[in-house]
Formats: sequence, structure tokens, C-alpha cells
Amino acid sequence: MFDFTFDWSKELETGDELIDQQHKEIFQIGRNIEQLIVRECIGVQVHELLSIVCELREYVSYHFYSEEAIMRQYDYSDYENHVNKHLKLKEYIMNIYCPALGKNPLQELKKIKEMMQSWVFNHILIEDVKITKEIQEKRK
Ligand SMILES: [Fe+2]
Repeated sequence: MFDFTFDWSKELETGDELIDQQHKEIFQIGRNIEQLIVRECIGVQVHELLSIVCELREYVSYHFYSEEAIMRQYDYSDYENHVNKHLKLKEYIMNIYCPALGKNPLQELKKIKEMMQSWVFNHILIEDVKITKEIQEKRK
């Protein structure tokens, strides 16, 4: 896997202000995970790991809810397919097994980071961009 870091850049913008703002928040969570990986989880406390997982779960649920509301508002043509992709991502995040994370934090955080990375490239840059293109057309 190439060396991806959760640094926000213009190329990541979908063009919808709210969605982009929320994606930036998710990147912030990604950066917190990266920082723990960089320090090889040395001295990491269980509560730090749990709070990252909780934040990820809560924020992602909130973000997907917002995106789905926007899609409904604009009667987005690929709504069901998109919601199914959200369900799969949410399922992964909800199934992060905290005892394993406590036992092997570095290894498990790397897996979470990879999942988030593939979400950026396979979902945000493709699927979310499709939504914003369509709603921008509909707003005209
Ligand atoms: Fe999405």
C-alpha cells in the first residue's frame, strides 16, 4: 500500500460545502489514527483507542445520515446503490472488535487506516462526487 496520509487537499473536494466539511472531519479522525501509528502506539491508553472508535462510529453515522438526506432531497438517481455502500462501510466500522484493538493496537489501527483509505478512493472520490455533480445539475 502506498503511503497515503489524511491531509486534506482541494482535489478531494466534491463541490458540496456540507459534504466537504464533513469529509474534513473524517480526515481529522484519520489523522488521529495516523499519529498513533507513527508513534507505533507506544504508551497508547485503551481509552484513547476506544474514543477513536467511538468518534469514528458516531461521526460516520451522522455523515452518512446527512448525505442520504441530501440525496433524498434531490431525488438522487443512484440512491439505493449509494446507501448500500454506506451500509457496508458502516458495518465494517460497527464491527471493529475493540478487544483485538486493545491487544494489537498498531496492527488493528493499520487495518482501520487502510479501510478509510480505500473509502477515500473508492467512495468519496467516485460515488460522492457523482452525487454532487447530479445535485449541481438539478440546482441549475
Ligand atoms: Fe457517501
